[in-house]
Amino acid sequence: MKEIEIVSKVKIYGYDELPASDRELVDKAKEATQTSYAPYSKFRVGAATRLEDGTIVTGSNQENSAFPSGTCAERTALFYANARYPEQSVKELAVAAFNHGKFTTMPTPPCGACRQVILGMEERYGRPVRILLYGEDGTYVMDSVKALLPLQFSGENMNG
Ligand code: THU
Repeated sequence: MKEIEIVSKVKIYGYDELPASDRELVDKAKEATQTSYAPYSKFRVGAATRLEDGTIVTGSNQENSAFPSGTCAERTALFYANARYPEQSVKELAVAAFNHGKFTTMPTPPCGACRQVILGMEERYGRPVRILLYGEDGTYVMDSVKALLPLQFSGENMNG
């Protein structure tokens, strides 16, 4: 028997400790929560992605009465960025959520499906996507979605 240990590194910053460019991206994600359409969950999520040329694209969760037909904020932002600027690699993604009249104290981690999509962006553009998960009590910062997705399935698995 062998055992492996998979370690993830997450840095936690107070909002004021973040560099200005991170605060800008987090602020855009917070703003984007206000464009959410979440009449069912009432959980308003915003995402902001920064592309290689500095363009910032935002998105929010969009729900539907047939529940699985809606999309998360992260995929709204990322797929729109890809559709609009396919040549620009995705550098960073910030996520924030607004619930019960205020921003959440805890950070909002992307769901499993969004993690897989972010991994797909890393494969597509050959670079890690830096992730910032905003919470009123601290922002979690990771250098790659791999920190959130141990033993990830990617194209490599189909070649090995
Ligand atoms: N949601 C997101 O948009 N992103 C996340 O990271 C977690 C969940 C949305 C999906 C649904 O509209 C609502 O939040 C409740 O799950």
